[in-house]
Amino acid sequence: MASPPDTSKTIKLERYNSYIRRLQLTKLLHSSSKLLFRATILIALVLIIVFTLNHPPLSDSSTTNPSDVGGVGGSIHHHSFLSTSLFSSSFSVGGGSWEKQVRHSATPRRPNGFSVLVTGAGGFIGSHCSLALKKRGDGVLGLDNFNSYYDPSLKRSRQKLLQKHEVFIVEGDLNDNALLTKLFDVVPFTHVLHLAAQAGVRYAMQNPQSYVASNIAGFVNLLEVCKTVNPQPSIVWASSSSVYGLNTQVPFSEMDRTDQPASLYAATKKAGEEIAHTYNHIYGLALTGLRFFTVYGPWGRPDMAYFFFTKDMLQGKKIDVYQTQDEKEVARDFTYIDDVVKGCLGALDTAEKSTGSGGKKKGPAQLRVYNLGNTSPVPVGRLVSILENLLNKKAKKHVIKMPRNGDVPYTHANVSLAYKDFGYKPSTDLATGLRKFVKWYMSYYGIDTRVKKESKLFNQHPDESGA
Ligand SMILES: NC(=O)c1ccc[n+]([C@@H]2O[C@H](COP(=O)([O-])OP(=O)(O)OC[C@H]3O[C@@H](n4cnc5c(N)ncnc54)[C@H](O)[C@@H]3O)[C@@H](O)[C@H]2O)c1
Ligand SMILES: *[C@@H]1O[C@H](CO)[C@@H](O)[C@H](O)[C@H]1NC(C)=O
Repeated sequence: MASPPDTSKTIKLERYNSYIRRLQLTKLLHSSSKLLFRATILIALVLIIVFTLNHPPLSDSSTTNPSDVGGVGGSIHHHSFLSTSLFSSSFSVGGGSWEKQVRHSATPRRPNGFSVLVTGAGGFIGSHCSLALKKRGDGVLGLDNFNSYYDPSLKRSRQKLLQKHEVFIVEGDLNDNALLTKLFDVVPFTHVLHLAAQAGVRYAMQNPQSYVASNIAGFVNLLEVCKTVNPQPSIVWASSSSVYGLNTQVPFSEMDRTDQPASLYAATKKAGEEIAHTYNHIYGLALTGLRFFTVYGPWGRPDMAYFFFTKDMLQGKKIDVYQTQDEKEVARDFTYIDDVVKGCLGALDTAEKSTGSGGKKKGPAQLRVYNLGNTSPVPVGRLVSILENLLNKKAKKHVIKMPRNGDVPYTHANVSLAYKDFGYKPSTDLATGLRKFVKWYMSYYGIDTRVKKESKLFNQHPDESGA
């Protein structure tokens, strides 16, 4: 057999050449990466400047503005919604003590207690539910991005209240997959009470993307994490009565059609119900959607009519009271927060376990949807006269036709399904509930009812000024 020709010299040469080439390439890469680095810094700077210039208070001064399906008139002012892409990475700076806080907050104190992740815990309904769960011995961990859709200082005050009861709220966004994954790493949540969302009906015309980001993308991200973890949690989440849209047949029942939403908000909630169906079907997640009807009460939302009517009436300002296009009174099935909290807990208590594991479905899982309303619609005029009574002040009513921009003329819940399945029975009428709201309002904003120094309130809370 002939021996192979000696190629070692040429190979050596080639190796040397390629070494030189690599060296040059590395140099090139090095200098170009320097360039890239500088360019990145420059772009980041420009972005920061653009953001700071564009974002802070796009305060509108006179437009008639949002409210949830509770929208029955009036106006309020909004601050720009902070982009959900600016995720806080609070967990990376957290470390051991952060984990300890998370674990402590989420650990149940009763036998067989739940460990619940409450999204939107800095919000109105989320803060109430968190407290109720904690009080009965469940473990609760909150998640909220504290966005400035309405006065974030109110969210911070709720956070302080929760902190007093040893409920910790992690500051972060639903879309932050790494954060959610981390939370499930630290705590094997048995349940998720998903209440974080972009609420408000008319604001969707100003900032449609915020609805898509939180109510669709954020929900999907949460479900993606929930389907992956072991064990999968059971999920109860907030849909809305707004899914009934332009329906005219009342009361609204769960089997009624929900395919004619009147606002983007409603459309994203309806989308949520369909997405829930998908994740239940493919991954065996147990999911319960709750269609809330105009929830009100202490610690409520400043963008809702009962709240800003109170504020404006105290200031002696005119309030816009809506009429339907055919000059009928707009009415809402106002539901008191304590009743809604009972409904949420009832839904959690009757939620079955999810059936999937390792991201795979093992069998059929529970999929439910319920109305949580009060079953007695009240015309806006009546709302105003109750407030006049409580505030001892005559309202300056400005009656106008309801603009066709998302609100529906009438809501009325049929709650027999929630009653049948978990004994849901609303027990607070509007006058009783509003009395509790006004009492809270006066004390929270430090208004002396006898001396009525309303103007003080708006100096203390500049975020709400001008409304
Ligand atoms: N209050 C009502 O009358 C009513 C009626 C129907 C449906 N709902 C639904 O009930 C839920 C709770 O409503 P609420 O009245 O307490 O509203 P809320 O605005 O007070 O609470 C929602 C909370 O979620 C947070 N949040 C929003 N997007 C987030 C995100 N991407 N990541 C993390 N946190 C985020 C907000 O900062 C806020 O604190 C919402 O889903 C809402 O759509 C409320
Ligand atoms: C209320 O809903 C139930 C089903 O949950 C239905 O059987 C009943 O007919 C409804 N009532 C009215 C008045 O629509």
